[in-house]
Amino acid sequence: MATHPSVIFLLLIVAANPFHASRGLHLPPAAAGACIPQEREALLAFKRGITGDPAGRLASWQEGEEDCCRWSGVRCSNGTGHVVGLHLRNPADDLDLTDTALAGQISPSITSLHRLKYLDLSKNNVSGPTSRVPEFLGLLGNLRYLNLSGIPFYGRVPPQLGNLSKLHYLDLSAITNRGPWGTYLNSTDISWLSNLPLRYLNMDYAYLLGIEDWAHVVNMIPSLKVLRLTDCGLPSANQSLPRLNLTNLEELGLSGNLFYHPLSSCWFWNSTSLRYLELASTLLYGAMPDALGHMTSLQLLDFSHINAINIIELLPQCSHNKLKELRLTNNNFTGLLPDRIGHVWPSLQVLELYGNRLTGPVPSDIGMLSNLTDIDLSDNNLSGVMTHEHFSDLRRLTMLDLSDNSLKIKVAPGWLPPFRLQLANFGSCQMVDHQFPTWLQSQTDIFFMLNLSGASISDRLPDWFFTTFLKATTLDISNNRIRGTLPPSLENMTSLSDLFLSSNQLTGQIPNLLPSSLTSLDFSRNYLSGPLPNFVIPNLAHLGLFSNRISGYLPQSICEWNADVLNLAYNRLEGEFPQCFKPISRVAILILNNNMLSGKLEQILETFTELQILDLAWNKFTGTIPESITMIGGLSHLNLAGNSLSGSLPHHLSNLSSMRGAHPQALCCDEVMFVTMKGQERSYYDTSIYDVVSIDLSSNQLTGGIPDGITSLDGLVNLNLSRNNLTGKIPEKIGSMFLLESLDISENNLCGEIPQSLSNLTYLGSLDLSHNNLTGRIPSGGQLDTLYAQNPLMYDGNIGLCGYPINKNCTSNSEPNHSDQKKDEHDSNVLMFSFGLGVGYVGCLWAVFCVMLFRRSWRIAYFQLFDKAFDKVYVFIFVTRAKWARNYRC
Ligand SMILES: *[C@@H]1O[C@H](CO)[C@@H](O)[C@H](O)[C@H]1NC(C)=O
Ligand SMILES: *[C@@H]1O[C@H](CO)[C@@H](O)[C@H](O)[C@H]1NC(C)=O
Ligand SMILES: *[C@@H]1O[C@H](CO)[C@@H](O)[C@H](O)[C@H]1NC(C)=O
Ligand SMILES: *[C@@H]1O[C@H](CO)[C@@H](O)[C@H](O)[C@H]1NC(C)=O
Ligand SMILES: *[C@@H]1O[C@H](CO)[C@@H](O)[C@H](O)[C@H]1NC(C)=O
Ligand SMILES: *[C@@H]1O[C@H](CO)[C@@H](O)[C@H](O)[C@H]1NC(C)=O
Ligand SMILES: *[C@@H]1O[C@H](CO)[C@@H](O)[C@H](O)[C@H]1NC(C)=O
Ligand SMILES: *[C@@H]1O[C@H](CO)[C@@H](O)[C@H](O)[C@H]1NC(C)=O
Ligand SMILES: *[C@@H]1O[C@H](CO)[C@@H](O)[C@H](O)[C@H]1NC(C)=O
Repeated sequence: MATHPSVIFLLLIVAANPFHASRGLHLPPAAAGACIPQEREALLAFKRGITGDPAGRLASWQEGEEDCCRWSGVRCSNGTGHVVGLHLRNPADDLDLTDTALAGQISPSITSLHRLKYLDLSKNNVSGPTSRVPEFLGLLGNLRYLNLSGIPFYGRVPPQLGNLSKLHYLDLSAITNRGPWGTYLNSTDISWLSNLPLRYLNMDYAYLLGIEDWAHVVNMIPSLKVLRLTDCGLPSANQSLPRLNLTNLEELGLSGNLFYHPLSSCWFWNSTSLRYLELASTLLYGAMPDALGHMTSLQLLDFSHINAINIIELLPQCSHNKLKELRLTNNNFTGLLPDRIGHVWPSLQVLELYGNRLTGPVPSDIGMLSNLTDIDLSDNNLSGVMTHEHFSDLRRLTMLDLSDNSLKIKVAPGWLPPFRLQLANFGSCQMVDHQFPTWLQSQTDIFFMLNLSGASISDRLPDWFFTTFLKATTLDISNNRIRGTLPPSLENMTSLSDLFLSSNQLTGQIPNLLPSSLTSLDFSRNYLSGPLPNFVIPNLAHLGLFSNRISGYLPQSICEWNADVLNLAYNRLEGEFPQCFKPISRVAILILNNNMLSGKLEQILETFTELQILDLAWNKFTGTIPESITMIGGLSHLNLAGNSLSGSLPHHLSNLSSMRGAHPQALCCDEVMFVTMKGQERSYYDTSIYDVVSIDLSSNQLTGGIPDGITSLDGLVNLNLSRNNLTGKIPEKIGSMFLLESLDISENNLCGEIPQSLSNLTYLGSLDLSHNNLTGRIPSGGQLDTLYAQNPLMYDGNIGLCGYPINKNCTSNSEPNHSDQKKDEHDSNVLMFSFGLGVGYVGCLWAVFCVMLFRRSWRIAYFQLFDKAFDKVYVFIFVTRAKWARNYRC
């Protein structure tokens, strides 16, 4: 290899320097300070490029510390003293890298380490200001090992790496496919790879879009043992190679590339040396090639999420007796599990078959698989009874998921399982004896989850429950008939993040102290009573306590419950919402309906500023609906029905932007109401009603007109203003709320005619206009006639209505006069001024003034002065006479 010019340059400096000359560059330095000074300088320069080192991993890299070979992570050659290795991998696991990551950039000084063979900087934040993989790394011609995985690089992979002619190992993978700002390492030409004598190549999540000849390139690297190209955007895998050179290939990871061609046409089937084959989510389809049967060394097979035909039936015929991991999830496979599963795959450690349509029983032969650690058969149609025989020899089992099948579990009383599970999911399995499984008492290692939801348990919650599962993060025993009370020892479950006890028969009070680690807590649909404790759980995101018998006042600590979802509906809560001194921005869903809460709405609306769903229905709230409600732009579902609210409707309802348009941004429920566990959606709350964009203000004492602005809320699906004392006309443009499915404005004092535009509401499935003072000819066409057939009472109690479909002919008197309606169509909207006047002036709610205004079209304006929060805010609203005339009088 030609000496690089900078080496020569360094040699010259060294030769010219009297201090260094005596030592000589290539002589092995004496015991103390055994380190080449130039390399020491290069390392110190490298350290200067590191601007962050929170764990002090480079603390030993000091000017004063002569022997750089003793610095942590530095390896020198015993013979020459040259630095040959930098082992600087971030030791943290992939989930939390930041505490130990080096931050900064890779200094070009590293190229002075000419003898460097091994460079591992993985999982550090050393992508520097440019975030590009440095081209100068291509100068480290002695490198055998280069690991840059998990460094947040993006942009082009420099082809200069093709100069590393001794490289055996190259890892450029990202940890996830989400690089900074959604970008990736990318390359449009990887032909330089074929210069390298690689055994290991990992470019998982690099973007190699459109590289058609990638298989030809890798086929030029016959030394390859491991080839990982997960999620690289590769276009296909059906290249026809004249000859397969990859006779050493043991691991091939191609998951996540959308190949979309028959499985059998892939180029790699002749590599019978393969031990690991990952083809998940590749859209490969069709029959399995016979070659699969010849891959007798296979240890791992991942065909999850593809469209292959039923390999579950073919596989057992192949001699895959070394198979350790079989992953065939989410494939819609039908059929039975192999009867002699314990003999077919005797070495099996991982069996993941969730999300298929497998039927029949689980063969008891599975109990032989003494090396099994992980069984996931969830979300199939398996049936039959599983007994202790199925588990007889499963000594190493740690993950067991049988949920969402029709399986029954029946073990002998006193049975002691051979395993110590970390995850046990029996959701919707049926415990044949309806008892709480006593054998679970031995499972003190449960760490991830215990799920017994919907398991037909009709029993007391055992005393040992909360002490046995002390390490658990998720406990779910919802949907059973479990009796008993919540013990104070709940407090000590300091690992618990999700606790689901809903839909049982639990009684007693909620303990005063709950684990502060909780993020989801669901006690809903039980018989819990007593007051709500004054707890604060810092990271609680979901709190479900609805349908219990909780009484008393809301605790002051509710101001600290910065959850996404608070559902306390259907209890016996009373009193006013406590005074919170700062807004709570995180709560998106506040559900308090069907309690006995009282007071005014201002308090709540000022506290919860980012609501998407607000349900306060059927309480005892009084006062007006404050105009400030229209400032909650994210609100998509509002239910204030069944209170004692008075005053008029807020005028600026059109500000509720999440109720506009066919796709309101705010619909919450994917993120907020559901969690995804292994691809299965699980609901905490009955969300269906809250999915609907809706305003329900029915059964209050609201007065005044329906503001025209409401018709701009064209995302509304449900509008219910019934059982109030609203006056004036139905807004002319009601037909522009084109998504309306249900409209109820019955039992008010509305007058005037029914707007013709109503017939434009093609989705309308329910309409009630009864018991108002509506007059004139009933419009026809569209949905209206069908709706009448379904609900012949929908026009009842309006003496002035006539025409089809009711049996009253229209006389000429009852025909309306349209002339004065057109006139002021161009009028400007309601103007509103807010004053922070501290004037005490209670009592006079309405005052009408005639004012000359500057613009001609506004001839008369009036002040609407209404008291909102006793002395706090007075709102003056100027409305043109035309609007007054049109909306509030007939
Ligand atoms: C170099 O020295 C270290 C520590 O004394 C020793 O573990 C290692 O085996 C030596 N390497 C060689 C190649 O002699
Ligand atoms: C590679 O990434 C860089 C930086 O994100 C981008 O500018 C460039 O367009 C990408 N090239 C390809 C081929 O995607
Ligand atoms: C590998 O096979 C190809 C044919 O696909 C052939 O042209 C090439 O010379 C072979 N390369 C090596 C390094 O064996
Ligand atoms: C794969 O093996 C078959 C049968 O052994 C052979 O006919 C075919 O040429 C091989 N294909 C490649 C690409 O090596
Ligand atoms: C699963 O298979 C059934 C019957 O073959 C088919 O109706 C259904 O659409 C399939 N589902 C998926 C997700 O492919
Ligand atoms: C189970 O694993 C052990 C050690 O990992 C191994 O020695 C043994 O052969 C395996 N058993 C089977 C049946 O493969
Ligand atoms: C919680 O654990 C502590 C320490 O082990 C213990 O003293 C306390 O009694 C426990 N609390 C309850 C309510 O069991
Ligand atoms: C509704 O308004 C009318 C007329 O303004 C009034 O007579 C009646 O008492 C009001 N009803 C209620 C329940 O407020
Ligand atoms: C009904 O809708 C049509 C088309 O969307 C529109 O042209 C028409 O003006 C509407 N009619 C009324 C009365 O709003």
